[in-house]
Amino acid sequence: MPTKVDIAPVVLEAIPNDVARRHDLRTVFGNDHPVELELGVGKGRFLIQNAEARPAVNFVGVEWAGRYFRMVAERAAKRGLANFRIARDDAAHLVRDNLPDACIDVLHIYFPDPWPKARHNKRRLIQAPFARQAARVVKPGGLVKLATDHEDYAVQMEQVFKADPDFESTYRAVGQEAPVGVTNWEVKFRAQGRTIHKFEFRRKQGHRAAL
Ligand SMILES: C[S@@+](CC[C@H](N)C(=O)[O-])C[C@H]1O[C@@H](n2cnc3c(N)ncnc32)[C@H](O)[C@@H]1O
Repeated sequence: MPTKVDIAPVVLEAIPNDVARRHDLRTVFGNDHPVELELGVGKGRFLIQNAEARPAVNFVGVEWAGRYFRMVAERAAKRGLANFRIARDDAAHLVRDNLPDACIDVLHIYFPDPWPKARHNKRRLIQAPFARQAARVVKPGGLVKLATDHEDYAVQMEQVFKADPDFESTYRAVGQEAPVGVTNWEVKFRAQGRTIHKFEFRRKQGHRAAL
């Protein structure tokens, strides 16, 4: 029988909704290296590859689905990645309630669920209140990177971040001009010939506009 991997070293504790506490990522990692956060990691290909390739950067992932969370945690634990943590949580909750101000250097959001039916659009992650929270947790000068294959969600992503006073657009690409990325869903969507939209927004320097 295969031995069970101890995932404890790579798990970032999910803080319950009724507890007012924010993670101190310097304490979590035991250093003050830059931190990159991915929301909705799926099978974790992007985050694990990056954590292996860039040991001087800390990588945090959040994933709601228990099956993916466990799979990613086991893969990272097997590799003994000291610069990797994964939380099983709702991404919006983690960002809003459990992260301190200006703690993230790069926020990665790749192929978030598009909720294509009009009556479900309100469940989308990328909405104005989320962008305000992203402006709070991303360091001045830091980046938010987004990708989607969903045309309507692409329009919404761009509108939301362009409308936020603390972000400026630094990059956008569509279809063939979009550089190839390494997430599981991007590999799958490209193989299907889907059009990929990519955006990058920089958190402006200086104080945040009032919330
Ligand atoms: C379409 S997949 C994309 C996965 C990965 N980013 C990629 O590009 O391969 C969306 C992922 O986000 C996760 N997810 C959806 N809603 C979430 C939420 N509210 N909080 C955390 N993860 C979520 C899903 O379980 C799924 O793994």
